[in-house]
Amino acid sequence: MHEEQALDDATMREATAPLEVVVLAAGKGTRMKSRTPKVLQRLAGRPLLGHVLALTRQLAARRVLVITGHEAEVVEAALPGLAADWPVQAVRQQPQLGTGHAVQQAMPHISDEAVVLVLSGDVPLTEAGTLQALLRARAAAGPGALALLTVRLPDPTGYGRVLRDAQGGVCAIVEEKDADAGQRRIDEVYSGILAAPAAGLRRWLARLTNANAQGEYYLTDIVVHAVAEGAAVVAHRIDDALQVAGVNSPAQLAALERAYQRRVAEALMADGVRLADPARLDVRGELVCGQDVEIDVGCVFEGRVELGDGVRIGAHCVIAQARIEAGAQIAPFTHIDGGSAGVVVGPACHIGPFARLRPGTVLGAEVHVGNFVEIKNSTLAAGAKANHLAYLGDAAVGARVNYGAGSITANYDGARKHRTVIGDDVHVGSNCVLVAPVTLGAGGTIGAGSTITKDTPAGALTVARAKPVTIAGWQRPRKDER
Ligand code: UD1
Ligand code: CA
Repeated sequence: MHEEQALDDATMREATAPLEVVVLAAGKGTRMKSRTPKVLQRLAGRPLLGHVLALTRQLAARRVLVITGHEAEVVEAALPGLAADWPVQAVRQQPQLGTGHAVQQAMPHISDEAVVLVLSGDVPLTEAGTLQALLRARAAAGPGALALLTVRLPDPTGYGRVLRDAQGGVCAIVEEKDADAGQRRIDEVYSGILAAPAAGLRRWLARLTNANAQGEYYLTDIVVHAVAEGAAVVAHRIDDALQVAGVNSPAQLAALERAYQRRVAEALMADGVRLADPARLDVRGELVCGQDVEIDVGCVFEGRVELGDGVRIGAHCVIAQARIEAGAQIAPFTHIDGGSAGVVVGPACHIGPFARLRPGTVLGAEVHVGNFVEIKNSTLAAGAKANHLAYLGDAAVGARVNYGAGSITANYDGARKHRTVIGDDVHVGSNCVLVAPVTLGAGGTIGAGSTITKDTPAGALTVARAKPVTIAGWQRPRKDER
């Protein structure tokens, strides 16, 4: 009774203990054969380390220490971009003497009352729920317990194997290179992820040696020291190998990318999105879809993209940072890149094929943008049309404007950008040059081939081109005459 009470108090203390995370990211990643550090290689458009750091934010960790070593400057320079708004701090490990040595470097920054979660910078697809379950399993095993995230693999080659005693308790992890033939047959492997009480971890790390096949200080050796102390060691085993898969080579990175994309596709389809082929979709960010969205093959979505109800995306579109509103149709080979300003495509618009919408494009309802039309930093009000071979930059285009084939805004004078304002119901003929700054009055018509350098009045026809001259009976020069 008394003992139970004491245990509960200690458990409670640990249950409310702050979470501090150590992310291992100092290793070399030799097999990537890349100048880019392994943890900065991209999966779904985001560096591997970015995926791991996003997890630490979901877990609301009080402190996140990233162990850097190989290409430390490059990795450290990337950190603010990956984790701008929560407390991530780099700790150098120089030289890199193993995973245990890596965690040792972090310990001076870890508080004694914390629970420490160790993650690998090259294991990108772990889910926050899995880590929460690991932390709960640790807390449930009593104060001072060590919890390992493990998984059974059909092919455990290369991983540390989980050794158990006759009662089934975890007693050690043995690395592949140190394992005997019998141990290599064990298919339960250590994921590289563990949770430990800071004070215990400090003691266990202090006892590590490098007397092993690789001459490294293995983090995995803390298990035997914890067991020797009588601490509880639990393995929280999951079935989903993808969540603990590490990236060591381009082939593994590509395989993980496909597996990730497959999951994204399945989640979208479960929400009712109709994908022509779930194997031919790439989402590098967040794709939010309404009801009855259809996406044809070969589309790439980057950053945050919203597709409203009934939106249809044709084959081979690339769409980044954009909101496509209900009923809009994007025909094949369209490129929409909202950049930091974003792009909005209004309801029931028709865009493409072969259209290009650049940052700051905002289209109202039922706007038509056709082939080889480029739009940048411009608004087009409801019902405006630019159907062929045109450029609109820094323009405000009124409702129902018809913008002719081959027309452009000359918005850049070599030093500054200027605005073009086109009133409602203006008809801009084909092949016009609108030299900004310039305003076309509402309801006006601009004759084909005009170069407009001054504001034009509302409701009138403006033509600014040479009058045709006809010379009757004129003889073209002939080759035989000299
Ligand atoms: C490690 C585990 C192994 C486990 C596997 C899971 C050890 C000794 N072994 O093996 O049991 O099955 O992960 O993927 O821990 N790192 C440093 N500093 C170093 C060495 C490594 O920061 O000195 C980092 C690496 O950048 C990497 C992580 O630690 O992010 C794991 O290192 P790695 O060399 O890939 O370990 P594995 O051999 O895969
Ligand atoms: Ca590894």
